[in-house]
Amino acid sequence: MQDKHIGFIGAGNMAKALIQGMVQSGQFAPAHIRFNDKLQSEHHPLEIAGQSIVSMDKEGLVTWSDVLVLAVKPQDLFNLLREVDPLATERKLFISIAAGIDIAGLTKSLSVAHPVVRAMPNTSARVLASATALTGNAAVTPGDMALAERIFQCVGAVVQVEESQMPGVTGLSGSGPAYVYAFLRAMIEGGVSLGLSHDTASQLAIQTLRGAVEMAAASEDDLDTLIRQICSPNGTTLAGMKVLETRHFQEHVMEAIQASAQRSEELRRELQADIRE
Ligand SMILES: NC(=O)c1ccc[n+]([C@@H]2O[C@H](COP(=O)([O-])OP(=O)(O)OC[C@H]3O[C@@H](n4cnc5c(N)ncnc54)[C@H](OP(=O)(O)O)[C@@H]3O)[C@@H](O)[C@H]2O)c1
Repeated sequence: MQDKHIGFIGAGNMAKALIQGMVQSGQFAPAHIRFNDKLQSEHHPLEIAGQSIVSMDKEGLVTWSDVLVLAVKPQDLFNLLREVDPLATERKLFISIAAGIDIAGLTKSLSVAHPVVRAMPNTSARVLASATALTGNAAVTPGDMALAERIFQCVGAVVQVEESQMPGVTGLSGSGPAYVYAFLRAMIEGGVSLGLSHDTASQLAIQTLRGAVEMAAASEDDLDTLIRQICSPNGTTLAGMKVLETRHFQEHVMEAIQASAQRSEELRRELQADIRE
């Protein structure tokens, strides 16, 4: 079990999902996790996964923590860093999950050369099935990165990327759950259009998606082979696949991911320009 002290600043949706995963995994003792949130008074612990997580004032939390997870909205992050910077006089591992704030912006806001990891989890963290990408500044040691990985592995799978790849991560795994929901909705509506009840169509569509994803993850065959295995000549699936190809399904999905990545870069520039003003 990890013996480091992990302090969360901001205890909203994402922090709660992370804390839940950390506690349920058994890798982090609840006593080694604390938090600070604007709305939460010092005397109200968070009840998560049957455990009480203690709240502290900011100064106490920063001093107590070896790792500070910054889990506030991007527009609140630089104000928070202004509060925290004078308190963090000793080396701490900073982990930011704020979308669109880059490592350079984070590092510049800290007077001490703290190690800083930027994480991009996704909403599936709430069911402990996030896909999270991590990147770090030059002060991050392999031990720091391993610890950050252990934290995010509690809510799903983790990859390490270069910071320049973060827009791609945002487009693919950050926004990706919405595209999957849209696909799922289209499958359900397809079933309903053919006379299935909404409930039956939902059950079949969700299980079909789950099964296909598990198959893709478990199989040694590539995706083209898996598709071919279902498409018998002149058969039913081939008839459907022809429609997807004629309507440029793949290109549309790729364009959606690219548009999201591009927007994330625009937002990063807008956010950081606002903050400098
Ligand atoms: N939700 C997701 O699926 C997701 C996915 C990827 C990344 N993220 C990132 O995760 C971060 C958190 O998102 P979230 O959905 O968890 O947000 P959230 O639910 O709004 O939680 C943020 C919490 O931080 C508090 N806060 C703001 N400034 C503070 C300060 N100076 N000191 C202490 N607490 C402060 C907020 O209080 P007030 O509400 O009173 O301001 C709120 O309770 C965001 O930066 C987002 O980009 C989220």
